[in-house]
Amino acid sequence: MYKLYFICGLLLLPITKCFSISTSGVCPPRPSDDEIYKRYRGNQHFYLDHRTGDDGWEGTLFEPDNLIQNGPFKTLLGAIKGMRRIRKCKQKKAVLLVKGGVHLVPNTITLDERDTLLSIVGHSKFDRPVISGGNMIPRTEFSKLDDKIYFAPYDGPCTRNAFLGRKRLLRARKPSLKNWTGKDFTGQGPYLTIKNLLINTEDCNINGTGGFTQHCPDENKNGFVYADGDINPNWSNLDKAEIFVYQAWDAERGTIGRVDKDTNSLYFERPLRYAVGSHPKPSGWRYIVENVYEELDSVGEYYCDEKKGMFYFIPPEGALEAEDVFVGTADVMLEVTYGEGIDLYDLELRHGNDRDIEGTDETPSLLTFEYSRNISIKNCCFTNVGYTAIYLLASININIAENRFTDLGYFAIGTDYKGDLSDPLATRYITIRKNTFRRCGVVNMYQPACVHVRGVSDIYVTDNDIGFTPYAGMRVGWQSTFSAEYKRPGEYVFYILRNHVHNFGLGMLNDFAGIYLSSNSGCSKADAAMSKCFLDAYIANNVIHRSVPYYYGGIGVYGDTAASHLTVEKNWIYDLSDAAVNFHCGQQNRALNNMIQHVNSERVFGVCNSIVGNGTEVKQILTFKQNVVYVTNTDARLWRKADRWNYEIPDVDYNDYYFDPSDEAQMEEFFPSTVQGAGVSFEHWRKETGNDLHSIIEDPLYMDMKKEDFRLTCQSPALKLGIKSVDLRYVRLLSGTFGV
Ligand SMILES: *[C@@H]1O[C@H](CO)[C@@H](O)[C@H](O)[C@H]1NC(C)=O
Ligand SMILES: *[C@@H]1O[C@H](CO)[C@@H](O)[C@H](O)[C@H]1NC(C)=O
Ligand SMILES: *[C@@H]1O[C@H](CO)[C@@H](O)[C@H](O)[C@H]1NC(C)=O
Ligand SMILES: *[C@@H]1O[C@H](CO)[C@@H](O)[C@H](O)[C@H]1NC(C)=O
Ligand SMILES: *[C@@H]1O[C@H](CO)[C@@H](O)[C@H](O)[C@H]1NC(C)=O
Repeated sequence: MYKLYFICGLLLLPITKCFSISTSGVCPPRPSDDEIYKRYRGNQHFYLDHRTGDDGWEGTLFEPDNLIQNGPFKTLLGAIKGMRRIRKCKQKKAVLLVKGGVHLVPNTITLDERDTLLSIVGHSKFDRPVISGGNMIPRTEFSKLDDKIYFAPYDGPCTRNAFLGRKRLLRARKPSLKNWTGKDFTGQGPYLTIKNLLINTEDCNINGTGGFTQHCPDENKNGFVYADGDINPNWSNLDKAEIFVYQAWDAERGTIGRVDKDTNSLYFERPLRYAVGSHPKPSGWRYIVENVYEELDSVGEYYCDEKKGMFYFIPPEGALEAEDVFVGTADVMLEVTYGEGIDLYDLELRHGNDRDIEGTDETPSLLTFEYSRNISIKNCCFTNVGYTAIYLLASININIAENRFTDLGYFAIGTDYKGDLSDPLATRYITIRKNTFRRCGVVNMYQPACVHVRGVSDIYVTDNDIGFTPYAGMRVGWQSTFSAEYKRPGEYVFYILRNHVHNFGLGMLNDFAGIYLSSNSGCSKADAAMSKCFLDAYIANNVIHRSVPYYYGGIGVYGDTAASHLTVEKNWIYDLSDAAVNFHCGQQNRALNNMIQHVNSERVFGVCNSIVGNGTEVKQILTFKQNVVYVTNTDARLWRKADRWNYEIPDVDYNDYYFDPSDEAQMEEFFPSTVQGAGVSFEHWRKETGNDLHSIIEDPLYMDMKKEDFRLTCQSPALKLGIKSVDLRYVRLLSGTFGV
């Protein structure tokens, strides 16, 4: 289905400035009239119609009635103000029915206690309304500059977010993408290669003797040496050019300060956060140049010149006949502080901007909630978002369900917690259910993910479909965590259930996971107070598959920095580039009854390792039981060489291992020895540690591995170990807003 939305009246533009947005299947289906009627029966009704409305009216009539001087409101802000005026009793629910079309929200609209029990809803008789935080440049305003480049006057702010219809444009970059599709990531290759460091030392040099990591002096935060011809000091607006530099698990942008053409040295205007060269292999010495007019040479690229007030771009053939250009400019559209009972239903929110942020902040966000309660966001569509779509801080009783998120600069959803358990509004009762997420971390690459949940109690992330991110699918925690007594065993803060998480990493960053849980940096220290490192998460019935790192990583479920009391149970985990499950230190962590197909050369299961700490980490306590591990890579081992335990051997038993193909070396070395770094045979491991005494090495007889069906057949020997067959076909089929 292909629909066009038209807008003319809103801005009182002449008819030539009418514009349209296509919605080709990226939004959830519309509800019926009946559903809307039932949902809002008994509410006080208000209307918003940007063509015929007037913000001076009472908004209670859908059609204008000039005789009695009443009719719909005209703008969203006008409607909010009008309803505050007119609603007498804030304990009675009100609904604002919004007629289709594009509603521009150039400035943040703030909701608070005056807007209690308010629903903002797409009017079901019209197309789903679009609320845009962008500036539109109508296609009719473009002229041809040369064979390829079109330009139009544009006097708004220039940002990293511009779109042709629903397709994301990229700032003119070097090297250009090979094949722009409009669904690309700014972090995608091809890349340029750093030629040398400003300062080489014994510990930090361009030969990357450190391999993974090397200790680089701060001077290397200031710039690097480029290869002849890669940077041209004659580029106009050199101070607007940005250099996107890769590290291991993130990439950061620096603005060019100056270029020394005698030494081919590039200096940033401000030092980067991390010294160039710190991660030789994981970075691959990659960088990209962005936002250079002279590099505007490929379809899908744009250059926005604020000084000249011009927007230049290269559209694909014929595109300008059908689509307008949007520049994302508003950073926050709707900010709700001390809101109660706010409900957004069946709306589309688009565009927005990032305030040129370089860092890990999860705001600005199109929808921002602070100190709020009883919020529902349902059946909405978030597309072409400049930074984050929904951010919540210190808010409770929140329901985000059946929405679709596509093309986000950073996160789709972030929930945050201020670290104070005694705060009555400490984040809790959060449900994120049955949403579809596509393409998060498109612009900001500081450990991006589609969902990042933090909070203190009853956080449910269930039945979502998360796919196509350059780093994690989901992040859980990374917050101030809890004492061992906070939750009883079997009771959790986070419930991560029935999600389909797939296609993450995409070959760009390293060291991530489909579901990536972490406590806080205090817990990764050798002398960490383990009593404060409990995250309390239950991760079950998820389907996690297809990770691709640039150099390393791509774990299924990863509990980092000693995050404790994690139960990873009955998941399907397959086709990954690293371990299925990794408990990086921590206590009371258990992996139970997971169905694993291990295809890569890395370890199956990760534990503490010597990369962090000095060998005196606090005691790790973990269990790996009743898992089915089908290994298809002869280089794979259960543990990696560096992984080890210091006090107690993990509790590993009742597992079904199988190797196809297998070779002799693998059979002799697959299992870990108590002598660090050595691998031993099954028999040796059993004898030495008493582990896996009840485990077997036998084909578990998955139903159909080629078709990714990891149910156990009735003949499976695993069943005799008490392992249960797990059927998660429905997760792949039914997660998200609509099927596959
Ligand atoms: C470019 O991308 C399109 C859409 O994904 C694809 O159909 C086409 O084959 C690609 N062309 C090349 C040369 O890779
Ligand atoms: C890197 O290695 C090359 C070849 O071995 C050597 O000539 C060069 O001096 C090394 N550079 C640094 C900075 O160590
Ligand atoms: C930059 O401009 C100067 C002066 O016009 C010219 O001599 C030089 O070759 C140019 N450099 C590059 C890399 O184009
Ligand atoms: C918020 O939700 C709670 C629990 O469902 C309910 O008791 C309370 O009345 C609600 N408050 C508002 C303003 O809707
Ligand atoms: C390791 O770190 C701990 C805590 O900082 C310290 O007490 C201990 O002496 C260190 N051990 C070694 C071998 O360096």
